[in-house]
Amino acid sequence: MLHLRSSQFSRVMVKLGPVFSVRHLLVLSLAINVSLMLTVIRERVKVEEILNMFSTKLQLATVSPSTGDGETTDNGEAIINLDHGDPTMYEKYWQRMGDKTTVVISGWQFTSYFSDPKNLCWFLEPELAEEVVRLHRVVGNAITKDYHIVVGTGSSQLFQAALYALSSDASEPMSVVSAAPYYSSYPVITDCLKSGLYKWEGDAQAFDKSGPYIELVTSPNNPDGFVRQSVVNRSGGILVHDLAYYWPQYTPITTPADHDLMLFTVSKTTGHAGMRIGWALVKDEIIARKIVKYIELSTIGVSKDSQLRAAKVLRAVSDSCGVAHPFKEETFFGFSHHSMESRWMLLREAVNRSGIFSLPEFTPGFCNFWNRVFEPLPAFAWLKCGDGIEDCESFLRGHKIWTRSGRYFGVSPSYVRISMLDRDRTFNLFVKRLSRIRSQRRMRLEHVD
Ligand SMILES: Cc1ncc(COP(=O)(O)O)c(C=O)c1O
Ligand SMILES: *[C@@H]1O[C@H](CO)[C@@H](O)[C@H](O)[C@H]1NC(C)=O
Ligand SMILES: *[C@@H]1O[C@H](CO)[C@@H](O)[C@H](O)[C@H]1NC(C)=O
Repeated sequence: MLHLRSSQFSRVMVKLGPVFSVRHLLVLSLAINVSLMLTVIRERVKVEEILNMFSTKLQLATVSPSTGDGETTDNGEAIINLDHGDPTMYEKYWQRMGDKTTVVISGWQFTSYFSDPKNLCWFLEPELAEEVVRLHRVVGNAITKDYHIVVGTGSSQLFQAALYALSSDASEPMSVVSAAPYYSSYPVITDCLKSGLYKWEGDAQAFDKSGPYIELVTSPNNPDGFVRQSVVNRSGGILVHDLAYYWPQYTPITTPADHDLMLFTVSKTTGHAGMRIGWALVKDEIIARKIVKYIELSTIGVSKDSQLRAAKVLRAVSDSCGVAHPFKEETFFGFSHHSMESRWMLLREAVNRSGIFSLPEFTPGFCNFWNRVFEPLPAFAWLKCGDGIEDCESFLRGHKIWTRSGRYFGVSPSYVRISMLDRDRTFNLFVKRLSRIRSQRRMRLEHVD
């Protein structure tokens, strides 16, 4: 993008010659940037990827990545980009762990397509399978006995594989639904290829078509953090449980989940989103084989390098639970749970001070992992704008806080989703800035006082 801009400049320069000063050009450059940005924003749903790249670049230019917690003075200028759920918060923990999870791979290693030819999932590294089983046992969040484990390039690929597996025998496109507010990627991923096998039908609560359907149950839910169950409950329904956030830093682990098809991902478990590793626990062998088939057709398996790294990271997480008292910050879940607790406290304080916003209220639950009661600490804040503000995303954008509008999640734009998993510096800047946005009404009252 920078290259594009400078070449645009030089072309302008040649045509206009010395009449234009450097200052003119700077103004022009701003105009080009703003119009480019607006075009991108208008086309946002279609070119979300471009926006992602764009906003990440902008973020790097403004809030420089930092691992320290240092006090940040906010001049209100830096863009705070909390649109994506990029789990960079966890970097700090893994830095502290030093070389514990370093993996060295020689050039001659892992050159074959195959990992475990006798396994139903022939591209699954046995080491990863072992660590997945172990971690679920340590945490107690899912049953693995009598389940087939299928590894995927992120749980995003497994989601697509599951849609294929569950609909491949259907005579007409299967309806795919999820209760609003639903994860914003579901509709886009489901319909991106205009498949003849399945079709996005929106909010499960409003679903009234007859025939077989697939209901996505995300629990705890992205974006709002609530624990969920299926809502359509008709015969002919197949459930996919997306349990990306069913981990003890986010929500009380109340029971080992034992649904027919469950999806997990390292990105939300340990923060290693860039490894692109997810796994499915599948009860039915025929469905598991079809999920494997899809991954075979789409990517002929899953990066072995990533699987081995994932295995090492999961092993470190399980090991850490075994050595220290689980609540200590040396343990992975101790660190992440404490971070989430303090972040939610700071956020609720800021929201309270501003008087404009509101957040969901959660019922505390007993967690078998921590052996105590606590309130859910979701990976996203589902913030509602009050004070008659209809478009919360635009309102916050005016304060240079980038969030994702409720309309992407199938609900009103008075809501936004805000990532709670960014680095300390960004998060601290965010709560500081949020707390300074005051309700006009409250300000008038304070003035009268
Ligand atoms: C509910 C849910 N499922 C799946 C994913 C995608 O995970 P992955 O990075 O493994 O593709 C996300 C990521 O935000 C998510 O929130
Ligand atoms: C659907 O089934 C779930 C799980 O058994 C239950 O918790 C929920 O209340 C049911 N919902 C409706 C609308 O019947
Ligand atoms: C919000 O502020 C009010 C008044 O200052 C206080 O009584 C209340 O407990 C606060 N609530 C939270 C959640 O902090």
